[in-house]
Amino acid sequence: MERMNPAIRFDIFTLFPGIFTGFLAESMLKRAQERGLIQVALHDIRQYAAGPHRVCDDTPYGGGGGMVLKPEPVFAAVESVLEAPPPAPIILLTPQGRVFSQALAAELSRHPRLAFICGRYEGVDERIRQGLATDEISVGDYVLSGGEVAAMVVMEAVSRLMPGFLGFADGARQDSHARHMQGLLEGPQYTRPLAFRDMAVPDVLLSGHHARVDQWRREQALLRTAQRRPDLLPRAALDERERQFLRSRGYDPDAPSPGRVDDR
Ligand code: ADE
Repeated sequence: MERMNPAIRFDIFTLFPGIFTGFLAESMLKRAQERGLIQVALHDIRQYAAGPHRVCDDTPYGGGGGMVLKPEPVFAAVESVLEAPPPAPIILLTPQGRVFSQALAAELSRHPRLAFICGRYEGVDERIRQGLATDEISVGDYVLSGGEVAAMVVMEAVSRLMPGFLGFADGARQDSHARHMQGLLEGPQYTRPLAFRDMAVPDVLLSGHHARVDQWRREQALLRTAQRRPDLLPRAALDERERQFLRSRGYDPDAPSPGRVDDR
């Protein structure tokens, strides 16, 4: 079968390309590459560093601890792979970036190509931000040892949005995914066995009544979101019946968000 153009191409600039090999060689990302939905090119920044030792880090001007990723090898790597003007957003993974979300994944998935620069050491030379990166993304308010795991998070979330990624049942799955992503957490799910220890499967799921099952699932999603992430409710698309349902269970769908419970 002739290969189609990939729906999206990722160029990853990293000092540790080996970190990505298992991730790309297994399961969904492997299949997506085989099916031509995504294409991934790994670029080893060290190959672009000068000198016999190909040094990529140095001490910070002004003193202080830690090492800083040098600008020259990063500029050399990116500029030799991407023509000018760059045909893709050049995204630096950093805790200082825009916080990643499903909405940002959807925005990125509209590009045919994305480039990621994975920072390492205790920081990157500011000129990489200033003169090379076009965007900065954080995967959350915590500090990783480098941008590689963050780049994998972004790549996987974006790849899942490519048509065909989820397989033959794509249409239906995408629909249900889209529904769940209308700002609500998914409710509980069960599979066989029916009897497991002393934990029962709710009767409604065995009733064969599709409308009742759908309603139960929606209500469970509402309750779970109200319990765990009330900050998501004001932005979720709830109709008046759903708001009434939450009120009847003691939750206020319009309460000003106090922020995520864990953050308080
Ligand atoms: N590099 C280190 N920590 C990071 C984070 N939270 N998000 C993105 N890149 C990072």
